Amino acid sequence: MALKDTIQTLLSQVSDIQANNAEELEALRIKYLSKKGEITALFNEFRTVPNEQKRELGQLLNQLRQETEGRINELREQFEAKQAEADKPDLTRTPDPIALGTRHPLSLVREEIEDIFSRIGFTIAQGPEVEDDKHVYGMLNFAPEHPARDMQDTFFIEKEKGVQKPTDVLLRSHTSSVQTRVMTSQKPPIRVLCPGRVYRNEAISARAHCFFHQVEGLYIDKNVSFADLREALLYFSKEMFGPETKIRLRPSYFPFTEPSAEMDISCNICGGKGCSFCKGTGWVEILGCGMVDPNVLEACGIDSKEYSGYAFGMGVERITNLKYRVKDLRLFSENDVRFLRQFESC
Ligand code: PHE
Repeated sequence: MALKDTIQTLLSQVSDIQANNAEELEALRIKYLSKKGEITALFNEFRTVPNEQKRELGQLLNQLRQETEGRINELREQFEAKQAEADKPDLTRTPDPIALGTRHPLSLVREEIEDIFSRIGFTIAQGPEVEDDKHVYGMLNFAPEHPARDMQDTFFIEKEKGVQKPTDVLLRSHTSSVQTRVMTSQKPPIRVLCPGRVYRNEAISARAHCFFHQVEGLYIDKNVSFADLREALLYFSKEMFGPETKIRLRPSYFPFTEPSAEMDISCNICGGKGCSFCKGTGWVEILGCGMVDPNVLEACGIDSKEYSGYAFGMGVERITNLKYRVKDLRLFSENDVRFLRQFESC
């Protein structure tokens, strides 16, 4: 009964058939079930067994073949299921590539200015861009015939279409208008920073634009002196341009401050030695400032005998130019990604 023993030994091993991958499984199929396989060979041997044993051995052989096929199919299904799982898309994966935008250089610089002044107690104040004459000029001690009001400088808003004559409604030409709004709505002590966009009727070129950005500061309290103004501006300049920075105040004139000054910093490109940027002088102008004119305080309802204050105003584009060497003002508003991408790491 050698055939029966062989069949039974194989039968006892069927459930242990193992394969690590589809290739090994195929090798097993060939080993047992192919034309030259072991089980096929047993079928050939079966033909020679005596008739009275055929029934029993035939049943055993069929069982062996079915169980072997069954086990091999079972293993195949397992591999296929595993493969299908591996082929599934990962729905938790983030799509790529994610295009990140960049901060605008003017925003970066404006925030840095805000940050520096917030460390010495300044808070942010906002005001409207569409303003009236009173807040932009009238309360700021501009004489009625002051040239800044001229059509060449200020954009007036026509109330009615086609009406050309100047009206009371205009686009603010400086953020000093926010100061008048703060002074008329708050009581001293006042310590505010007014960042915002301003408009002037100028031809667009590399050095001038019809809109730009300013940050103005206003501090009103008892006994505020010019020395306080100077110290605040020196602190700002060193924080913004480095501890070596020097400042220089030159007498100037603004209708709303008395005395008034323009402030230069030592050129941060050549360190004050003189270069093409500072036109060989070693100094670059960055802001206007002064003590708030008593007329302005009174116009805003603040007692000029009790209170005094200082104000300053700077162009954000100018500071950005000094920090990042942007030579053409137009780059700031053209949305050219080749320019903006340079600020990716800032
Ligand atoms: N408003 C002035 C300008 O637009 C700047 C300034 C602000 C000067 C405050 C003095 C004090 O040029």
